[in-house]
Amino acid sequence: MNKRVSIISRILVLSGLLFHCESSIADEISDAIGLKPNIENGKTIYPLCASCHMQTGWGKKDGSFPVIAGQHRHVLIKQLADIRAKNRVNPTMYPFTDPKSIGGVQAIADVTAYIASLESPSNVGIGDGGRLALGQSIYKQRCLQCHGEKAQGNNDAFFPKLQRQHYAYLVRQLKWIRDGYRKNSNALMVTELKTLSDDDLNAVADYISRL
Ligand code: HEC
Ligand code: HEC
Repeated sequence: MNKRVSIISRILVLSGLLFHCESSIADEISDAIGLKPNIENGKTIYPLCASCHMQTGWGKKDGSFPVIAGQHRHVLIKQLADIRAKNRVNPTMYPFTDPKSIGGVQAIADVTAYIASLESPSNVGIGDGGRLALGQSIYKQRCLQCHGEKAQGNNDAFFPKLQRQHYAYLVRQLKWIRDGYRKNSNALMVTELKTLSDDDLNAVADYISRL
């Protein structure tokens, strides 16, 4: 595989924002984005996801299953492509994202359009509220420049919306990203997280979960 050249060109195509990207993953992402989504077909695929993410796409407050409803479509596409390629560790979900169960790239285009169209939950799991000022100051200094003032994210830049996500899920992801277990992460974000303690991560997740 002519990986290096392909990686570089794909990174340019995808606005330079995807790091550590395998060429096949980048292909799947740009192909899915390029296809015209059929939301109705996405709705017929979604029951495969609902046993964990729930019919509403709101997941569970204990953070075992994240909110996916209302997430930016490009973010959903990238995460699914990463999970399918095992570039993001998520064994419970592998059987459900396999092309044999869900279908090819058109299925990804369709189901992500449906999920992005679902409404965000009105309330989510939150932290203990003990260190919100610390959480706010960390967020403003280190996270806001990408995830946005209200943690609304950015579809075109593949920055996830963090607003209306469960606290316990946020904490788990932050630790996994900091400690290198979630491999598909943005390198600049990893740098921002490296110097933060577990308490800092709890504080910033608590702050975000209340936005
Ligand atoms: C057996 C349970 C299960 C099923 C079924 C399932 N998921 Fe998941 N999904 C999870 C878990 C658990 C996570 C979070 C893993 C982690 O903590 O990193 C997740 C994470 C995700 C994420 C990443 C969320 C984010 O914020 O980055 C997306 C997107 C997603 N699932 C979409 C889907 C879609 C689409 C389907 C159906 C085709 C599906 N899932 C089916 C368990 C499941
Ligand atoms: C340079 C831009 C950038 C900065 C700065 C940044 N992030 Fe991120 N963040 C990203 C990108 C891009 C992703 C998606 C990575 C991927 O594809 O898995 C992400 C993913 C996440 C996720 C996982 C979301 C999910 O749904 O699974 C969390 C949580 C998160 N960021 C929190 C933070 C926090 C807290 C900070 C500040 C301490 C921060 N980020 C700083 C760009 C950034």
